[in-house]
Order: sequence, then structure tokens, then C-alpha cells
Amino acid sequence: GKYRVVSTKPMPGTRWINLLVDQDCRICTKKKTILSVEDIIALIGDKCDGVIGQLTEDWGETLFAALSRAGGKAFSNMAVGYNNVDVTAANKYGVSVGNTPGVLTETTAELAASLSLSAARRIVEADEFMRAGLYDGWLPHLFVGNLLKGQTVGVIGAGRIGSAYARMMVEGFKMNLIYYDLYQSTRLEKFVTAYGEFLKANGEQPVTWKRASSMDEVLREADLISLHPILDKTTYHLVNTERLAMMKKEAILINCSRGPVVDEVALVEHLKHNPMFRVGLDVFEDEPYMKPGLAEMKNAIVVPHIASASKWTREGMATLAALNVLGKIKGYPVWGDPNHIEPFLNENAPPPA
Ligand code: GLV
Ligand code: GLV
Repeated sequence: GKYRVVSTKPMPGTRWINLLVDQDCRICTKKKTILSVEDIIALIGDKCDGVIGQLTEDWGETLFAALSRAGGKAFSNMAVGYNNVDVTAANKYGVSVGNTPGVLTETTAELAASLSLSAARRIVEADEFMRAGLYDGWLPHLFVGNLLKGQTVGVIGAGRIGSAYARMMVEGFKMNLIYYDLYQSTRLEKFVTAYGEFLKANGEQPVTWKRASSMDEVLREADLISLHPILDKTTYHLVNTERLAMMKKEAILINCSRGPVVDEVALVEHLKHNPMFRVGLDVFEDEPYMKPGLAEMKNAIVVPHIASASKWTREGMATLAALNVLGKIKGYPVWGDPNHIEPFLNENAPPPA
């Protein structure tokens, strides 16, 4: 191959490999689980045209300088979130950056929905109880949980994933919606209105929606809250002690976005003092670690950052990441700013320039 492309980890499926190989690229990858900055510099070596990186890696000045020295102009994160990438540093070294939205929207929303139901119906606690041999007969008060129907789901960040989750909870469980986002989601509002009218026409209680004017309004009013913002300076510790205190005592909080959006130490304290409050967490402040005490909390469900982990999505993310890098290397038309590769499946992308 004429071009050398580094993928810092082997990725699922073969389509991304075939795409690169067919376009004259040779692929270089490492099996080790988590790579350090030094490992990645060694992998980049003296010649590297593009890199596919992972959210566990810190892509800042050092790595983009190394990539640029090796002649590289393209970097794609195999993730939609790119809080691990310093885009300004990349552009300073002439490296374009891509991410992988679109292909993981539904898979991620489905995990948020899974955690919501699991928390509402105490699935994990009940499973542990069964396996521990503690079940000695049906009882009226055994693992009583929350009925979602008619309750209010609160969505913070109504982008692709947040909106998909909102639609699932509204349509699937007849929940009312309150959302907070800087941008109005007209499509989502129209969907809830139409579904509400459908229910009404069938003699059922209609569902309703409300666009909150502040995040606090969502926290105060919702029974189930799911966080879907990007992580940046403005969303760091968005959910802190003060905001946890605003929430209903029996509320459920779901986080499938990024760990630092929630002050995890404050969350552990809140869980300790509010046994009826429940959380479902896919992400943590210091992955792969959990803050002390979290693992012992019965009212917390914790899973290891698997929101985008369906076969279709992970293969799609690998394919998109490969296309991002290839697009830059081969000079295919790309959308938008020439220094920011817009992925091919980005439904919200601006039209080609
Ligand atoms: C996963 O967390 C992603 O951002 O794609
Ligand atoms: C990511 O896909 C988002 O905009 O929610």
C-alpha cells in the first residue's frame, strides 16, 4: 500500500479493512488494550498518513505534532464524542478531524432506554436476589418499582441521541416529555403532538411535551431524566450536589453521555441519603474506575461504557472512521469546513460545499 493508516486498536468487522486496502492503504494496529501516548507515537513512526483513534486516548498537541511530522493529515475518532480530541491543536498541525455520528444514535438510545427500565423495575437487584437463593415465594411488596406510563421523561440535550431516546420513551411507554436544549427540536415536538392526538382519538390520555427554559426546570419536574449533552467546559459537572437536591426523591437519572457531566462523588452521597433515588450509568468520571462507594450502592446500575455496543453500530463506526480518514487522504469531496471532515452518514451535516 502507498498510504500507511494506523488504527490504534483492532476494530470490529472487515468492511473498514477492505475499504482501506482497496484504496492502497496498509493498516497498522496494536492489540494491547489501552495505549499510552508513547505507544501511539511509536505506532505513528516516521510515516503515517492518517490515524483512527479511540476515546480512551488523549489526542492533544503531542500526538498531533507526531502525526504531522510523519506526514499525516487525517484523524478520526471511533466515537461520536470528541472531548478526548483537541481540534484546535489538530488544525494547528494541519490535521483534519472526524467523528462517527449517525450510526450509533439508535443503539445508544436503546441502552439509555434499557437502563431506564432496569432502574424503574429494579431488574439488577431482583436478578441478584434470585441468584442468591433469596426468593422464597411471591409477596405483594417484593421489588416494587415505578410505573413509567403517565410519568414525565426529562431529556437534557435533545440532539440525535437524546431525541431518539425521547421518542422511544414517549411512544413506547406513554410518558410526557420535558426537554432542555439550546436548540428547539421541532421534529421531536411535532412527533409528541401527533402521538398525543393519536392517543386522544383512541380515547386515551394524550402525551404532552414542554421545552424547558432551564435545565433546572427539567430536574425539578421530571420523574426520569436522561443526560445527552456533549462534554465540554460548559457541561462539566452539570449535575452537582445542588442540582441533585432539586430532583424528586424518587427520580431516576440515566447517563450514557460522558462521565464528567455528573459529579460522581456528589452522586454517591446523594444515593446514600436517598434510597428511593436510582441511577443507571454507562460512563464514569475516571474510567475505568468508579468513585468510592458507588459499587456498593443498591440503587445504582453500572455498565462499562457499552452504549454503542451493537454489532451493526460498532462495524458502522469502524467503517465511518475509515471513510473519514480515506476522504482526507484521497481528497474525496468532504462537507463543510475543510479542516473538519464531516462523516458521510451525518444526517445533520450541512450540504456539500
Ligand atoms: C462513545 O462513547 C461515543 O462517543 O461514540
Ligand atoms: C449525537 O449523535 C448527538 O447529536 O446526540
